[in-house]
Amino acid sequence: MTPLFDTAPVRTGTGSYKWDSRPGSIPLWVADMDFATAPCITEALRRRVDHGVFGYTLPGPDYYEALRSWFAGRHGYEIDPAAVIYTSGVVPALSAIIKALVRPGEGVVVQTPVYNCFFSSIRNNGCVVVENPLLRHDCGDGTFTYGMDTRGLAAICARPDVKMLLLCNPANPAGRLWTRAELEEVARITRANGVTVVSDEIHCELTAPGTEYVPYGTVDPGAVVCLSPSKAFNTAGLQIANIVTPSPEIRAAIDRAININEVCDVNPFGIEGLKAAYTPEGAAWLDALRGYLWDNCAYAAGELRRRLPSCPVCRLEAT
Ligand SMILES: Cc1ncc(COP(=O)(O)O)c(C=O)c1O
Repeated sequence: MTPLFDTAPVRTGTGSYKWDSRPGSIPLWVADMDFATAPCITEALRRRVDHGVFGYTLPGPDYYEALRSWFAGRHGYEIDPAAVIYTSGVVPALSAIIKALVRPGEGVVVQTPVYNCFFSSIRNNGCVVVENPLLRHDCGDGTFTYGMDTRGLAAICARPDVKMLLLCNPANPAGRLWTRAELEEVARITRANGVTVVSDEIHCELTAPGTEYVPYGTVDPGAVVCLSPSKAFNTAGLQIANIVTPSPEIRAAIDRAININEVCDVNPFGIEGLKAAYTPEGAAWLDALRGYLWDNCAYAAGELRRRLPSCPVCRLEAT
């Protein structure tokens, strides 16, 4: 095991949302790791602190280049810096995208079980949650996994009131790393029905070692994609995310909604954290983390099978 992850800082009493908001409970409910972030990020933040001025901040060309080269090099996903809108988180991004592209009363599809804020972001914008439940499959070895109900999706997308699909790629909490074939089927169905796909890819780096996520933007270049280094590098508190969409009209509408929601400013630490994460040092740390996490996961699954054999375990490909 990699020594880097053999200890985790004590977080109680540090203003941790996860540990301090429900004292005494075991906080399995928030996707927030307990490992310290990558040393290259801490060093970058320290350098920024030493500057001593923390005024309103704008990402520069090095920010967009860090994002571009990371996704091109690591995931084969070419991001045009002109197609990027930054904002203060993926949930603020989703909310602004829904506000921009769906009218109150219209339907937004979610494939359940899925991240709880998908529901609130849809409802907070006066839109209607339309569920297309994932199909649960028994793997026959005490584990289970999920697949997409593409027939159900096609029937729902054919409804005139349904305008958007919120895709979770990879899927939280279903643990699925959607395959290119599955995503191509989603693209075919949604395109045929004029439904916009918004792909939340915040979990894209936390994949089983040896596996690779498929960026939805490489399947459907017209989609709206949300990205952030925050889950992989445990930097959710730095509050930064990016929306990628090639259409200038869609970008203008999202930009307007971000302004209406007043989430157009990011902080200097989010910018420095992202630039430091998307580096070779960040990549080496992340790969060590993935190995460690999947060892932990295999251990937990084994213990559950041994001690609680009647409790089925979800097979984890990602997140
Ligand atoms: C699928 C998904 N999207 C978004 C978020 C939160 O994103 P942010 O903290 O950038 O608003 C989470 C957090 O758990 C998540 O699981």
